[in-house]
Amino acid sequence: MAERWTPESWKNHPVKQQPEWPNPKELADTCARLASYPPLVFAGEARSLKAALANVAEGKAFLLQGGDCAESFNEFTANAIRDKLKVLLQMAVILTHGLGKPIVKVGRIAGQFAKPRSSPMETKDGVSLPSFRGEAVNASDFSEEARQPDPSRLERAYFQSASTLNLLRAFTSGGFADLKQVHTWNQDFVAASPQGQRYAKLADQLSDNLRFMEVLGINSGNTPILREIEYYTSHEALILEYETALTRIDSLTGRHYDCSAHMLWIGERTRQPDGAHVEFLRGVHNPIGVKIGPEISVDDVLTLASRLNPGNEPGRLTLICRFGHSKIGGCLPRIINACKSEGLKIVWSCDPMHGNTYGTPNGFKTRSINHIMSELEQFFAIHRAEGTWPGGVHFELTGGNVTECVGGSQEVREEHLENCYQTTCDPRLNAAQSLDVAFLVAETLRQMG
Ligand code: PEP
Ligand code: CO
Repeated sequence: MAERWTPESWKNHPVKQQPEWPNPKELADTCARLASYPPLVFAGEARSLKAALANVAEGKAFLLQGGDCAESFNEFTANAIRDKLKVLLQMAVILTHGLGKPIVKVGRIAGQFAKPRSSPMETKDGVSLPSFRGEAVNASDFSEEARQPDPSRLERAYFQSASTLNLLRAFTSGGFADLKQVHTWNQDFVAASPQGQRYAKLADQLSDNLRFMEVLGINSGNTPILREIEYYTSHEALILEYETALTRIDSLTGRHYDCSAHMLWIGERTRQPDGAHVEFLRGVHNPIGVKIGPEISVDDVLTLASRLNPGNEPGRLTLICRFGHSKIGGCLPRIINACKSEGLKIVWSCDPMHGNTYGTPNGFKTRSINHIMSELEQFFAIHRAEGTWPGGVHFELTGGNVTECVGGSQEVREEHLENCYQTTCDPRLNAAQSLDVAFLVAETLRQMG
């Protein structure tokens, strides 16, 4: 890998999971336009996130990353964006209180529009069509027309990302995220649930503390940290033509940043050390993640770390572990050990979603909260035994009252899945289930000291 990196050097490497665009000229024209549009995020923001993640790597902070499996063009409303932010803010309050450490908040949002698929074709009733690859590529309806990759969707994904980011920036700095609002983040349907009531108690406590501080003269009017939050965006860097078009040279440092999001990650299906995705991301200076599953070898983990983070810079590399509850125990300890002996500075994050997906007899893809919690608990216990910091968590979740995952205090069962199953890809935690999981993480980590 001594070759010189450019935003397009990935083209000399084997590339997986790219759509077969029917009209290359149309793709090239779209990408030329994208390359001329303003960046969605700024290099300085990506550097702030890297600094925050360096604190996570050093055990001084905790990463909370979450959002849709795949964003959708249809569910593009202010309420949907606001409700997703509410859940993340609630989870962050629970975690800050439980851990006593700052929580680094990163959404799977404002750019999470492309999906890797296990098979390029989908067959239904004897008809085979290209698989749905996310709204940035094609549509999910099962028809020839819908499944045709269409480059104009990349542009639509860019504009939806810009608009989503605009609202998120307004919410996070315009008073919505003020700690005084801690009660208003509890949506009615959540407030009625046991975990919503538990959250309300915590919010009461926090409001009391804020009143006490107000007496001392500390309030959100004079203390911005009570009023504003740092909130970052992330997505899987899958469609490399799109990511290349959004890559810019930062005028302050002269370095390349992928300005489509603050943090980008490489998925489990595209993390080949010699592959195009690793080649692309090694050259941009954003903080980056790599999903690692049960098939990865210890050698590949070390090779990935040396290619993606040759300077061993803390905060640059997050390993997002997604082994599944039955495999994590057999996989994770040797990987941690190898990284420890090399002295690698890594943010260890647990994605307890993607290794725990299964199909129900009535035809739904789902995940059980019990499996999710089991994987999380094992992740924390393994890190405790190894003396390493379990730096964060990565969830697929939404602010709505969906029925996509089973279990939790509200006891969603397999026969309830059809009531409100709305995801365009993988099953997400609903708002109440997200609080359940946040309380579990907070308690487990508090008990571990
Ligand atoms: C995802 O995060 O939606 C995903 C596809 O994950 P993974 O690469 O871990 O399978
Ligand atoms: Co997913």
